[in-house]
Amino acid sequence: MRRLAAGNWKMNGVSASLDEIRALLALHSDPACEMLICPPATLLAPLAVLAAGTALSVGGQDCHQNASGAHTGDISAAMLKDAGAGSVILGHSERRADHGETDQLVAQKALAAREAGLVAVICLGETEGERDAGRTLDVIGAQLAGSVPDGASGANTVIAYEPVWAIGTGRVPTLDQIAEVHDFISRSLNARFGTAAGAIRLLYGGSVKPSNAAEIFEVPHVHGALVGGASLKASDFGTIVAALSAA
Ligand code: 13P
Repeated sequence: MRRLAAGNWKMNGVSASLDEIRALLALHSDPACEMLICPPATLLAPLAVLAAGTALSVGGQDCHQNASGAHTGDISAAMLKDAGAGSVILGHSERRADHGETDQLVAQKALAAREAGLVAVICLGETEGERDAGRTLDVIGAQLAGSVPDGASGANTVIAYEPVWAIGTGRVPTLDQIAEVHDFISRSLNARFGTAAGAIRLLYGGSVKPSNAAEIFEVPHVHGALVGGASLKASDFGTIVAALSAA
């Protein structure tokens, strides 16, 4: 299984930010892991040009569940693909919170992504209140069951475990807590999808930094990271890529 270092730029980045990509590619022309950057949609096409023929691939941050139509301001999976994306983040907790996205909607979007030939990077994660109430695995199990459509395989799906309370806070679960959830996700996928589940990569996300990446990558069933803030700087993301390549 090829490990994956994915960067989610969220609503950050203009044309000048592509210099960070040039610097990243200078640092890592041939990493032992796959690199993915998901920029804002405005930068997809120019980033895809930069990434062509390199170890870097490009992804969107969301897509609409329909293939086309009267949906002002939305973007379809086929449009992402046309702009050079190979994957798309779906069901990020910021979209679930800001835009009321439900598990059912995320599953519809994942099917739309699959139809367009994109890999769906489906995000799951508990809130702090849910963890404190001892409900983490119940919440993750329900999100997994509801957000991941039938027919998921390593070729069309990546799962990212991102505890909501760890995103952008500098707080990270203990390695045991990460291990518990990743083991649970792995077992749940195996139970539902059988052998096809074995190739589905599981990413950890939430305050991954150069300083903590290496130890997180040692946790069983962690096949990479989905990185927010630290993906914006080539030096930081490059260190995380190096840690994953060495893991
Ligand atoms: P941070 O790495 O900034 O905590 O963000 C994580 C995230 O939400 C990636 O999708």
